[in-house]
Amino acid sequence: MKFETPAGINPIDKQTVIGKPTDRIEGPLKTTGTAKYAYEHNDVVSNPAYGYVVGAAIAKGRIKSIDQTKAKAAPGVLAIVTAASAGPLKPGQFYVDKLLAGPDIDHYHQAVAVVVAETFEQARAAASLLKISYTKTKGAFDLAAAKDSAPVPKQGQFGPPPQTNVGDFGGAFASAPVKLDETYTTPDQTHAMMEPHATIARWDGDKLTCWSSIQQINWGVRDIATVLGIPKENIRLISTFIGGGFGGKGTVLSDIIAASLAARAAGRPVKVALPRPLIMNNTTHRPATIQRIRIGATPDGTITAIGHENWSGNLPGGRPESSTASTRLLYAGANRFTQLRLAVLDLAEGNAMRAPGEATGMMALEIAMDEMAEKLKMDPVAFRLKNDTQEDPEKPGRKFSTRKLVECLQTGATKFGWSKRQTQPGTVREGQWLIGMGVASAIRGAPVMKSAARVRLSREGIVTVETDMTDIGTGSYTIIGQTAAEMMGVSLDKVVVTLGDSTFPESPGSGGQWGAASATSGVYAACVKLREAVANSLGVHIEDAEFVGGQVLAGNRSHPLGDAAKAAELVVTDEMTYGTLSREYAQDTFGAHFVEVGVNSYTGEVRVRRMVAICHAGRVLNPKTARSQVIGAMTMGVGAALMEELVVDKHVGFFVNHDLAGYEVPVHADIPHQEVILLEDIDPTMSPMKAKGIGELGMVGVAAAVANAVYNATGIRVRDYPITLDKLI
Ligand code: MOS
Repeated sequence: MKFETPAGINPIDKQTVIGKPTDRIEGPLKTTGTAKYAYEHNDVVSNPAYGYVVGAAIAKGRIKSIDQTKAKAAPGVLAIVTAASAGPLKPGQFYVDKLLAGPDIDHYHQAVAVVVAETFEQARAAASLLKISYTKTKGAFDLAAAKDSAPVPKQGQFGPPPQTNVGDFGGAFASAPVKLDETYTTPDQTHAMMEPHATIARWDGDKLTCWSSIQQINWGVRDIATVLGIPKENIRLISTFIGGGFGGKGTVLSDIIAASLAARAAGRPVKVALPRPLIMNNTTHRPATIQRIRIGATPDGTITAIGHENWSGNLPGGRPESSTASTRLLYAGANRFTQLRLAVLDLAEGNAMRAPGEATGMMALEIAMDEMAEKLKMDPVAFRLKNDTQEDPEKPGRKFSTRKLVECLQTGATKFGWSKRQTQPGTVREGQWLIGMGVASAIRGAPVMKSAARVRLSREGIVTVETDMTDIGTGSYTIIGQTAAEMMGVSLDKVVVTLGDSTFPESPGSGGQWGAASATSGVYAACVKLREAVANSLGVHIEDAEFVGGQVLAGNRSHPLGDAAKAAELVVTDEMTYGTLSREYAQDTFGAHFVEVGVNSYTGEVRVRRMVAICHAGRVLNPKTARSQVIGAMTMGVGAALMEELVVDKHVGFFVNHDLAGYEVPVHADIPHQEVILLEDIDPTMSPMKAKGIGELGMVGVAAAVANAVYNATGIRVRDYPITLDKLI
């Protein structure tokens, strides 16, 4: 199937709004502090009360009793909600955590009560007066210890197959002349987004409105309905601006449920924000992994066997971290084996975090490729080029819709100056600094989901877009505005974009790197319909009409666009589904990351000196927002390589460094200039706007490129992330 540009719409190479490096249209609201985040919607609720979520003080066991006497008598207290008072709550989809637990406790800081008071301080003070006694039971907190008894999980609803086999991996690996068998570990990580999970909940009779920080409005409404047992029609969910998500705000978490229950109990609107220490242990995180990789090759560098096993842990019923996903697609090799194993761990729930599976898997695979290249005495870029494949290596005959991994690696090598890399590690020195270069490939799926939008045209010629798509800081507002402007032949300042409200047509939200491709498809579809409505209203044939400069040109006449709405505003809604071709083609995005580091030869301190990323992610709707996505992702990749780690207390069973002082992420001073090259491409199988996601691709492989550069600098191979200085001295 090929997408044809409808008559009258500028062909892609002639478009004037899409593809331009456009500033974010909501930027001024954010930089002036006037964009309202969930917790700040004071205008919509009068006299709100404040809810304080109390987290369990044990990791596993039972609540024996909750003595509320002192807390109830504390100043300003309006209500105390517990699982016992709230009645049964059902779990939502994709998540297993009970968002208000009791009497059974599944993990440390699982929500066990919400204290509601007139002020935040009163709620917090009263919360400390709750006397909760527990019976502790033994929990499992150590992935390495649980690993050997971890089974292969059942296939999840949307997850990849937990195990794949092609050819005879065992035989081919055993007989391979050159082979590698190594184990790599990645730690638990937290999203560390700026804005905490926060919700204001208001009941009007049996109707519930929540202003919340949530990436997927549709999942949110579905899960609030399920958890609280109320009809979806009675829920309105609003998320206008989001201060970062990364998958940690995919759907409902304890703040929404706490605020909703608290508002019902208090008979008032209630505001709940999770304090930072609660976020790490109460909400979801990226789970730790142990990964064994085996690669066998012939002396000329042809991979003959590739095997990837991954162990992760989760609460009972939780999902595995699917770290084998990229290995299944990235390199050729006739004999293949991948397997996920899942242990039960009584830590907070593991769930999606930016490039879930791919990010962790490529942290291991791309070090293994570097190690293998060294064994083969091959250049790491050349070794990757040699094993490129143009079809799905697990499903021969299934082609990639487009795949420019080779071009990404070659372009990057040239730009970066890869030819200056010294093969022998530890040989380049500048004063006390050892200098090294590293490379890694990148791959990430390019899903497109059904997405709907409504567009309105006013007599003033203003086009208003409404969809429940969200903007988590990615630029959704802007690319949606650009799409509508291009389609209707108006400048961007004639478009109003309104997002993040469940009363708007349904989008798949921000996640899985599908937001840009999906949401703009729905807007495109609605605009095609609006163009027809405009032509009808003006009495011209749509085939003859040209929409340009705010005018509709037909024959030798020109009508101001707004004239079509003179009698009444034109309003149309449409949706587009474009996700089915992925069965026929592997639709993916590709990239290459090149990194130069300096490692201090006395202290082991690692400084990233240069970063170059080449991304092949379809058509670029807005080079500025696309680049911002990639540099943010590269920064997160540096965090994963060098800093980020939730440290598990294996006795008590919780993440110790549960704040932004103890959980380190890169700051400006840690990041050098980042160069991003976008290899633009029109994938004929993709959605009308021809975009693919880029926000997750940008971090896949980065950590391994850093690790490989550290090895090249020092000769020390660290297989255990993060690469902190103690591992280098
Ligand atoms: Mo993402 S990890 O689906 O925000």
